[in-house]
Amino acid sequence: MDDYRQRIEHLREAINDHNRAYYVYNSPTISDREYDMLMKELEQLEREHPECDDAMSPTHRVGSDLSEGFKKAEHVYQMLSLGNTYSVAEVEQWAERASTALAGKDTTMVGELKFDGTGISLIYEHGKLVRAVTRGDGTRGDVVTDNVRTIRSIPLTLMGDDYPDFFEIRGEIVMPWQAFEKLNAEREYNEEPLFANPRNAAAGTIKLQSPAEVSRRGLDAYLYYLLGDNLPYDTHYENMLAARRWGFKVSDVMTRLHSIDEVDAFIRHWDTARKELPVATDGLVFKIDSLQQQLNLGFTAKSPRWAVAYKFAPERALTRLTGVSFDVGRSGVITPVANLEPVLLSGTIVKRASLHNADIVRGLDIHYDDMVYVEKGGEIIPKITGVDKASRRSDAREVAFVSHCPACGTPLVRVEGEAAWVCPNKYACPPQIVGRIEHYVGRRMMNIDGLGSETAALLYDRGLVKDVADLYSLRAEQVAPLEGFGSRSAERLIEGIQASTQVPFGRVIFALSIPYVGETTAKKIARVAGNIDRLMSMSATELQGIEDVGPRIAESIIEYFGNDINRDIVERLRAAGVQMAAEEPAETPGSDLLGGKTFVISGVFAKHSRDQYKAMIEQHGGKNAGSISRKTDYVLAGENMGPAKLQKAQSLGIEIIDEDKFLAMITPATPAADGDSSSASSPKSGGMGSLFDDLE
Ligand code: IVH
Repeated sequence: MDDYRQRIEHLREAINDHNRAYYVYNSPTISDREYDMLMKELEQLEREHPECDDAMSPTHRVGSDLSEGFKKAEHVYQMLSLGNTYSVAEVEQWAERASTALAGKDTTMVGELKFDGTGISLIYEHGKLVRAVTRGDGTRGDVVTDNVRTIRSIPLTLMGDDYPDFFEIRGEIVMPWQAFEKLNAEREYNEEPLFANPRNAAAGTIKLQSPAEVSRRGLDAYLYYLLGDNLPYDTHYENMLAARRWGFKVSDVMTRLHSIDEVDAFIRHWDTARKELPVATDGLVFKIDSLQQQLNLGFTAKSPRWAVAYKFAPERALTRLTGVSFDVGRSGVITPVANLEPVLLSGTIVKRASLHNADIVRGLDIHYDDMVYVEKGGEIIPKITGVDKASRRSDAREVAFVSHCPACGTPLVRVEGEAAWVCPNKYACPPQIVGRIEHYVGRRMMNIDGLGSETAALLYDRGLVKDVADLYSLRAEQVAPLEGFGSRSAERLIEGIQASTQVPFGRVIFALSIPYVGETTAKKIARVAGNIDRLMSMSATELQGIEDVGPRIAESIIEYFGNDINRDIVERLRAAGVQMAAEEPAETPGSDLLGGKTFVISGVFAKHSRDQYKAMIEQHGGKNAGSISRKTDYVLAGENMGPAKLQKAQSLGIEIIDEDKFLAMITPATPAADGDSSSASSPKSGGMGSLFDDLE
């Protein structure tokens, strides 16, 4: 085969792989710049060899972010991307070409930030947000309106009176740095995979099935493009100022530029000034201001001729790889870590960088002593993005992924469908055991005073604690002689261990280190299962009935309790007095009083927490939903119920009840004080009958 054909095929395959990693798994395998370079090379080759054109080539489509589980909607106007460049000279050429095409007329431009998030299209009718759709494949996207409504900076109803009856506005949903760091800190704590950058975090969040979780994650949105037939002004700039008056967040960085010199100055300024911004940006966008001129310039198949994106070069440094270590996590996952000669990068000294997994190590073709490129472009964890192969010593040894666990020597296994290699020796591999003990005693798990990571490792090393249940048979006289302890502190430690037996069941489940079961999921499991015996006997289908539990988590729970070692640990913990049942349901027996009714909870309550109300709803046969729809029967409203929810409930004619009314609904012995006989407080007689049957 000709060289170029081979190259074209190779590029198409590589780009398709990267697209999947980026759009489907929200976990890019190369930097944007490298991706753009591959795409440009492929476009160039396809232009030079038109006979190789293929409708399936990745150059023919904008990468798709469509996912299952959302309704799809056609875009009113196609959602195209922007031509982009890393070179100031090319931006200048773009401006010159536009000006020539417009016969040298005044071509005012607008300079903007290129926000690094996920694109969104919002439709407003008569001043109300009616639909929010992701970019999808450019023609059709996912309808994510309920999630978008939780973003506080997006107006649900508009101000003023000069907006068109029907229009679309596009912008970027972003996760500000602060929210991103908080989310990743939580995920790290729960041993959930981290988001590589705020863009992936924003894209992943807007596709969640739980608007409540979306709301919690602190997304924001900047709007930058108004579309419609009756826009109030003839220029992009004035329309965006109007949009700002209507209540949209339009960045005040947006500036009118009148010459190439002003464009250059804008680039020079924001190249550094952007580092101070609260949100991630990956470049600048320049647009022709006049809508008539935009129309005259038109579009190519993929992008408008009236706009161009200038992308910032990521910050990177060149340094030497001094070695690679392989860390073993508490779940047995092996993470390769590059040890580097210290180098200054974006204000911090970098000595270590994650190499993520075996695929990435192989893809980099990295050798010991190589000079490697380290980047932080938008990412918190520095990563190796390339190797300077020209400077490689001829006898350099390739970095090979370990085949055996560096800690216990067990041959590693690969989890199907995942990039990670795992040490399967769960119960005898020291760092895994110590990792689980450290996790168990942690603040958000059993919160054992005086027992930090170091002590956990020490107790294991001295043979005093071989699993978490051993903690409860420790005696003060065994601890007192250890480094850093005396008789008083040893006693305090034993008291702390004893006190942990009062920690609620949900945290106990989290503390057990069941793979993939994070803090929030553990609490939900505790609430539904009620106690450990029930949990241990639940089938995969029953487990998947719990909110947040999918097939992977269900399988992991079953595997965990199917193992004798774990069952033995559970029994010893139970014997030690650790909580193995949830507290709340004990007081009120279950019933079918709310048989099949769907509730949405909103606001803050005085008598019980939201979680308690959710548990009560399930306990009495009702269902919880995250957002109001036609299927909702009741909205249980506390103080400060969001105006959007209120409005939606009212427009759908859904009954809104307060906590007293709700409590009356689930208390058959004491009917509602006001004698209300609406369906809200008088459950079906069948439900009542069956409850009394149960009680007798
Ligand atoms: S204008 C038809 N302005 O960058 C062009 N896009 O690769 C409409 N983006 O899909 C887009 N900041 O998601 C525009 N100030 C800005 C932007 C911006 C970020 C995103 C947007 C777009 C992508 C282009």
